[in-house]
Formats: sequence, structure tokens, C-alpha cells
Amino acid sequence: MSASNKLKITLISAAFAFSYSVAADHLSSHSVEKRISPTGSVYKSGDDVPVAIAPIVEVSGPRTGEAIYNTKCLACHGTGVAGAPKLGDVAGWASRIAAGEETLLNNALNGINAMPPKGTCADCSDDEISATVKYMVANSQ
Ligand code: HEC
Repeated sequence: MSASNKLKITLISAAFAFSYSVAADHLSSHSVEKRISPTGSVYKSGDDVPVAIAPIVEVSGPRTGEAIYNTKCLACHGTGVAGAPKLGDVAGWASRIAAGEETLLNNALNGINAMPPKGTCADCSDDEISATVKYMVANSQ
């Protein structure tokens, strides 16, 4: 092997050794710990929550009957799809209202004929459905 080739090999080996030491720093316990640490923290009630995070943990209250009606029930009850009693149709609601609020609520929660359970609002609480039925009744008599 010529002297110049020997020199080239020495330089190349030195370059590898250098890049290896950079990679080794990348694997130091500190940098690994940093990379595998959880991205967020969990706060239990009573913990001091940093102000910057507070708005994210704010819990929203129940939605109003009107808001739910407009997003979940209007599609059928606004136009009378499949025989749905229309909001504001006093004659259409009279006999239903006469059956009593409890019957209306039960049918709204469990569904009846073409009326799907909870009117397709799967994430509505029973109280929210109740508020929505009250809103519909109040605006249909
Ligand atoms: C896919 C269409 C559809 C959607 C969406 C829908 N309804 Fe209905 N709903 C109906 C139909 C059809 C009826 C009539 C059922 C019957 O008496 O045959 C009805 C009837 C009702 C009644 C009367 C029940 C009774 O005892 O006479 C209530 C109360 C009611 N719906 C509440 C709701 C509420 C609250 C929502 C939204 C959360 C909702 N509905 C969404 C189709 C729908």
C-alpha cells in the first residue's frame, strides 16, 4: 500500500471515530431520558395547575335544549322527515303533549318508530335530552 493511501485510510478512520463520538453523545442517558419522557403531565383535582394549562382543563357545562335541537334534532323536526312532528306545529304536537312529559322523554331517550334513540345524539346526557324535549314542547304549543 502506498503512503498516500495509508494517509487516506487514517483520515477516513479519524472521521468515523469523530462521528461516532457525536452519535454517542446522542445516546447519553440525559438525552435519551429527555426523548422518552412523557409529553404531558396529568393533574389531579386539588393540584396546582400551571396557569398556561388552566383553560384546557376547563370543563364545559351541559348544552342547552335549544343548542342540541339546532345541531341534532332540526334535521328531522325542522322539516317533518319520516313523520317527525315539526317544531312549532301545535296541532302535530297536541296529542303527544297530552300523553305527558314522561312519555315524551321516554320515547325521546329510547326511540319510537322512525325516531332514533336520543334522536341520534349519542353523547347527549339524559338531562340534555330532557332539556331539548322541554324546548321543543315549549315552542310547539
Ligand atoms: C332521524 C330523524 C329524527 C331525528 C334526528 C330526531 N327525531 Fe325525534 N322524532 C322523529 C320521528 C319520525 C318522530 C315521530 C315518531 C312517531 O311517533 O312515530 C319523532 C318524535 C319525537 C318526539 C315525540 C315522541 C312522542 O312520544 O310522541 C320527541 C319528544 C322527539 N322526537 C325528540 C327528539 C329530540 C330531542 C331529538 C334530538 C336530540 C330528535 N327527536 C331527533 C325523528 C327524528
